[in-house]
Amino acid sequence: MYAFDIATDAPKAELYAELLKAADALTAGEADGIANMANISALIWQFVPELNWVGFYRMVGGELVLGPFQGKSACIRIPLTKGVCGAAARTGETQLVEDVHAFPGHIACDAASRSELVVPVKRDGAVIAVIDLDSPLPARFDAEDAKGIEALANLLSDRI
Ligand code: SME
Repeated sequence: MYAFDIATDAPKAELYAELLKAADALTAGEADGIANMANISALIWQFVPELNWVGFYRMVGGELVLGPFQGKSACIRIPLTKGVCGAAARTGETQLVEDVHAFPGHIACDAASRSELVVPVKRDGAVIAVIDLDSPLPARFDAEDAKGIEALANLLSDRI
């Protein structure tokens, strides 16, 4: 058992710095990618407020396939041409969507989702997975959230 104590009302920069430290401690020396994705999903879910879904989609055979997550059961396969996750995987760029209803092709896995942040995880320049965060609040995510999750994606590059 691991007890991480991150104040969820801390300033975002502090929260993400602590989250990164906890993620590093949890995954260092563990080679099993599924275990690491499962623990990181749980860590984000516990410490990043106002989420209704968080998890991983992995690049498998040229499409995204659902990985470990927290929240309601979700779409299993996402083509790279579809959705916010597909856009992140296809372009290799973080997608910060303030209003998912205004995003062409958004896939509504959970009807409660109003805004979304998707960050690609890359290894040797290739996208191997994406980290997807959904919120029931419009415009929940900003550049600081993106920076925090990008640091996490960078850490996980060779741990998932
Ligand atoms: N909304 C995502 C699909 C995944 S679910 O949110 C878990 C998308 O448009 O890619």
